[in-house]
Amino acid sequence: MISKIEKIRQQVIVCKKCELCKYRTNAVPGKGNFNADLFFIGEAPGRSEDRLGEPFVGVAGKKLSIAFEHAGISRDEVYITNVVKCRPPKNRVPKEDEEKACQKYLKSEIDLIKPKIICIMGNTAYRSLLGGNNILKNRGKIIKKNGNLYFLSVHPAAIIYNQALMSTLKKDMKSLVKTLNRLNEG
Ligand code: URA
Ligand code: SF4
Repeated sequence: MISKIEKIRQQVIVCKKCELCKYRTNAVPGKGNFNADLFFIGEAPGRSEDRLGEPFVGVAGKKLSIAFEHAGISRDEVYITNVVKCRPPKNRVPKEDEEKACQKYLKSEIDLIKPKIICIMGNTAYRSLLGGNNILKNRGKIIKKNGNLYFLSVHPAAIIYNQALMSTLKKDMKSLVKTLNRLNEG
C-alpha cells in the first residue's frame, strides 16, 4: 500500500493547479523522513531542483547541508519541502495565487508528518505560513500557531549574496536542535 505522503508526491508530480506547471522540467515534492521531528520549508525549487526533482540539491542546498552538518542534523532524519513545488521563471518569488494553489500539499505534508518543529527558512515561507516579514529581524524566534511550533531562520540562498549569513544559519540550526532536545526531555 502506498503511504499517504507518497500519494501527495504522486499528485504533485502531475499537478497543473497553477501557472508554474507550464515552466517546470520536474515538480519538486518534499523529501525526507516521514517520521521527522524537524520539518524545513524553503521558498520554491531553483534550477538544479527543477532539473533533478528534489528539494535543496543546488547551491542553496549545499549551504543548508553545511549548516546541518555544523548542528549534527542528518538529511535522512528530517523532512524538507517548499512553499511551492514548481520553479518560478527566473527564480522570481511565487505569486499569491500560486502559493494558494499549492498550499494544500504543504498542509497535508505537515498534517501527515506531524513534526515537533517546523523551521521556516526565509521571508517567503515566513509570509506565506505566518503572515510575517523581516526574517532577518525575527530569525531565531519560536512561534506557536494553530497547534504547530515554528522556528524562524534565514533562507540558505541568502548566504550566496551575503557570506556573513552562513554563521547565522549555523547558529540557528544549533539553536533549533537545542530547542528540539529541550522538547524531547520535557
Ligand atoms: N531554494 C528553495 O527555496 N528551495 C529549494 O528547494 C532550493 C532552493
Ligand atoms: Fe501544482 Fe504547486 Fe506546481 Fe502549482 S506549484 S503546478 S500548485 S505543484
